[in-house]
Amino acid sequence: MLVFSTSDKGGTGRSVTSSNIAYRLSLKGQNVAYLDFDFGSPTSGALFDINRVDRGTPDKDGLHNYLTSVNSTVNSHNVRTETNREELRAPRHPYRLVLFPGDRGGGEFTSVDDKLVKRCVELLVTCEQEFDVTFVDLSAGRSAALEIVLGAMAAPQLAPVVARWLVFHRWTRQHILAANGLVHGPNGLLETGGRCGHDTGRLLESVRFIRTAVPSMKESPGVGRGPQWAWLRRQNEALETLAKTNRLGFSVMLGKTPMEPVLQWREQVILDADVAAKIANQETVDAFTELATGLTDDATWERVY
Ligand SMILES: Nc1ncnc2c1ncn2[C@@H]1O[C@H](COP(=O)(O)OP(=O)(O)O)[C@@H](O)[C@H]1O
Ligand SMILES: [Mg+2]
Repeated sequence: MLVFSTSDKGGTGRSVTSSNIAYRLSLKGQNVAYLDFDFGSPTSGALFDINRVDRGTPDKDGLHNYLTSVNSTVNSHNVRTETNREELRAPRHPYRLVLFPGDRGGGEFTSVDDKLVKRCVELLVTCEQEFDVTFVDLSAGRSAALEIVLGAMAAPQLAPVVARWLVFHRWTRQHILAANGLVHGPNGLLETGGRCGHDTGRLLESVRFIRTAVPSMKESPGVGRGPQWAWLRRQNEALETLAKTNRLGFSVMLGKTPMEPVLQWREQVILDADVAAKIANQETVDAFTELATGLTDDATWERVY
């Protein structure tokens, strides 16, 4: 399965949520790859605490140089042996979690040509053969990265492969409008996909939305009363309506993540050890686990309301 992580805006939680879902899937017995296609800002090495590649690889053997045919191979990094985070290290873990970083200073692609798309097809075919789930963390917005993978996914070699598109957005007015625009708007996912030869109806069926860092509306003693709370409730309801009218309603929502203090301070994988130490919230891990299940379990993914 290939999973494309997109968002219209930067800072949506696309990378942090995707890497945590990837981690949870690898705990559940899947071999997982994580491809950093955020070419202008390839920092996913930092998420997995692989310090050497925290801003992309300095060794010139990353995804930029592979896609532009500077190199014929791409180097990958085994998270469980190369991470600098002691608690994440697990060299004998039976399932693979592998990072393919971008190149340090690689930069966004300014144009997309057939050669680039062909290299991307080769890469995705190889990943699909070697891994159960491959995440492709794309640059924000209507980017070259989005165009490259849409072009690649229209190739006959990738036609039989299960592809899922995740659109991440914060739970705010601006983010809801932006997420709608990315999928349904001019030069968005569907329009660009159609130009690349995709059946746009089928493409849309493979899209789900994820709401990130959603503030809790749970009442607890001392919380849940007063004018501020009433205002927040009204805003939440207005956002629900806005999401529905912008085709981001419940039927196409894969799930949501709660506001997590650890992630407000540090981009990282949340480990069960962090919850046991009472540093991270159990709710956050539960949300990532549910997203991992929803993504890979066909019945949950296809559910209709
Ligand atoms: N559930 C969450 N609660 C609080 N902060 C979060 C949550 N998810 C992500 N973040 C934080 O939001 C910021 C943006 O997330 P990131 O994954 O880098 O966004 P993107 O990849 O979309 O640019 C990061 O500092 C990240 O740690
Ligand atoms: Mg990111």
